[in-house]
Amino acid sequence: MKNIGVLVSGGGTNLQALIDAIKGGIIKSGRIVTVVSNNSNAYALKRAEKHRIDTSVISKKDYPVAEDFDRAILNHMKSYNVDLIVMAGFLAIVGKTLTDEYKNKIINIHPSLIPSFCGKGYYGLKVHEAAIEYGVKVSGATVHFVNEITDGGAIILQKPVSVLCDDTPETLQDRIMREAEWKILPEAVELFCADRLIIDANKVIIKENVL
Ligand code: GRF
Repeated sequence: MKNIGVLVSGGGTNLQALIDAIKGGIIKSGRIVTVVSNNSNAYALKRAEKHRIDTSVISKKDYPVAEDFDRAILNHMKSYNVDLIVMAGFLAIVGKTLTDEYKNKIINIHPSLIPSFCGKGYYGLKVHEAAIEYGVKVSGATVHFVNEITDGGAIILQKPVSVLCDDTPETLQDRIMREAEWKILPEAVELFCADRLIIDANKVIIKENVL
């Protein structure tokens, strides 16, 4: 059973998907031991508390030096013996202090099909505004490993979602969350916790499920 630490910043719908997936048996090889937010008002914290999951706030305001912020998160996760860090709607940037120590043990959910509409400045609604502006017919979500490059780590899972001609950024965000994010994030977490992910250079291979 692996220990999962979840980083959140906002509404926590992806955290809720993980909690529900554990309760529903979709995630059976991991358990959430701590939820950490950089935002003390994040509703995600209330979702965790409702399920009696330990919560903490680590705010960038308290760490003017970026590396100290990374180290505060790193020390917290190590104190909980976290094996996997999941960024579930986490909006703060982390650096090599954390990504090196947890190399290939941090995953993130991004609301587009990477390499489209990702990288610096692409987060939340901005991602969907760019997709609609470009006129793509398909967008979706990506779960990837986190390294020092924003949205640059190896891709684990992706799921496409159609873009409708009357979509607004809000309607597209909602459909991608419901139809893609909340499905592939729990699936990727279980694959990691069940030791079914092999990383070969920048490619992820998923091992067959040996019953
Ligand atoms: C989601 O669109 C997610 O893809 C992005 O942050 C948004 C909010 O996520 N990373 P949540 O509701 O806080 O999980």
